[in-house]
Amino acid sequence: MSPSSAAPHEEAALVAGAPVSATLEKSSPPQLSRLATDATSLRHTMLDGLKKVLGNPYDAKTNVNGILNLGTAENHLMFPELLEKFNSDAIRKVSPSMLTYGTMYGSDHLRGNLQTRDAEARSRESSRVGSESKRGVLLIGDHPLRSSNALLKARLFNTYLKPAKDVTADNITVHAGCGATLSNVAQALTNPGEGILIPCPFYGGFEFDLTMYAQAKLIHVQTKSTDEFLVTVDALETAFKIAEDEGTHVSALLLTNPGNPLGLALSPSTLLPLLQWAKRRNLHVISDEIYALSTFSESNPFVSVLSMPDLPDPDRTHVVWSFSKDFGSNGIRVGVFVSRNEPLLKAMHMFAVVTNASSLADGATANLLDDQKWVAWYVKENHKRMRSQCERITVELRGMEIPFLQPDSAFFLFMDLSRYAKKIEAAHEGPAGEAWRTLWYKLLDAGVYILPGEAFSCSEPGWYRIVFTVPWERISLGLERLKKVLASI
Ligand SMILES: Cc1ncc(COP(=O)(O)O)c(C=O)c1O
Repeated sequence: MSPSSAAPHEEAALVAGAPVSATLEKSSPPQLSRLATDATSLRHTMLDGLKKVLGNPYDAKTNVNGILNLGTAENHLMFPELLEKFNSDAIRKVSPSMLTYGTMYGSDHLRGNLQTRDAEARSRESSRVGSESKRGVLLIGDHPLRSSNALLKARLFNTYLKPAKDVTADNITVHAGCGATLSNVAQALTNPGEGILIPCPFYGGFEFDLTMYAQAKLIHVQTKSTDEFLVTVDALETAFKIAEDEGTHVSALLLTNPGNPLGLALSPSTLLPLLQWAKRRNLHVISDEIYALSTFSESNPFVSVLSMPDLPDPDRTHVVWSFSKDFGSNGIRVGVFVSRNEPLLKAMHMFAVVTNASSLADGATANLLDDQKWVAWYVKENHKRMRSQCERITVELRGMEIPFLQPDSAFFLFMDLSRYAKKIEAAHEGPAGEAWRTLWYKLLDAGVYILPGEAFSCSEPGWYRIVFTVPWERISLGLERLKKVLASI
């Protein structure tokens, strides 16, 4: 800052040679907005543990006494093959378009590779620059059209989500991860203070995604372990009525399918009444299907809302997905929004100007999807490895007499350690009413990081989520450490 651009009191300080910060500390009013103040005061249970892991991470060679991370939802089972693929010439080839802004809401190449087979002809049409400009969307940079060859081979959603109606590239916008996508949807559907219903337990990051910018109010919908924590229409209606009676206008229902932390895919017979209820209440439904390709059970296949022929309210039902989970690449930050709602899509296009995925990440993921033969192999092999890890960990937990929900999807299972939490409570160890935290800290001290149900707003204390999609040696060592801690209680 030059002295001439400084505020008067700063300028005086500069002239006098005093450090500006010292002067500011004494006399300045708060400099941050309410949004920033709220953001910095957002706390989340999972971050407490994560800080400890990051400060002392386990390493088989260099830090065997470090903390094993069985808490972060990452899938490392396909890392060798993913790395080989991402490092192959076809994928890491940087084209000029990857150095430009591109469309900002996802390249034609990527959205083309996500859409459905029948939409191919229409997509060719809409991928012309002219037709994109017609939507009133900014087109910055020179983005080449995706090759028709790629389109013929690709179409991820067609193959795996089996939509009842076409999903075209025009139904898709791309953002920097699912979190950014959700943040945008929340801003598009709610005014600050308006409600979004969320069945508990739910992925704790929603608290950031939906409140930080949109300032939506999360309306918790309670569930019970005796119902496998599955949400019912009665529970939705109760939560909705309480919120409205308290003066909170409810705008949307957020469903996570397959669920996090439950690891369960919802059957159509469970899903349909929830969607019918949302329609009766004039609510938008956001279906977070980030684990769509990670259902490894052969008996309970994943069913996307997009594939339901009798979807009650297609215009107000929207899907979010990303590469983070199904392609084991949390760090790549490519999130996808799918909708048939034109005004909402227009808003998402605009929000994408601020939250666009990097063109490098867009290009790499589009290139990856070009090789559908590899993708088909990858999905199948990934399921096989997940199934095998899941079987192994469930055998171990049964041996330890730990109850858990049998998962059919995703990277984790939800287990019940309330018996041990109750013992801690009875022994008056740690703060009253916080036995779950005392147990959690004991586990962290013993070198194993899992997440307590409280990080997912689970109403029953004593549940914990453990990730099983990291190398087996880590899980095995983690279970050994867990066993020791439980034996000492
Ligand atoms: C259900 C759910 N939605 C969204 C996210 C965030 O995904 P992304 O990494 O793409 O932002 C996660 C991450 O764990 C998740 O579990």
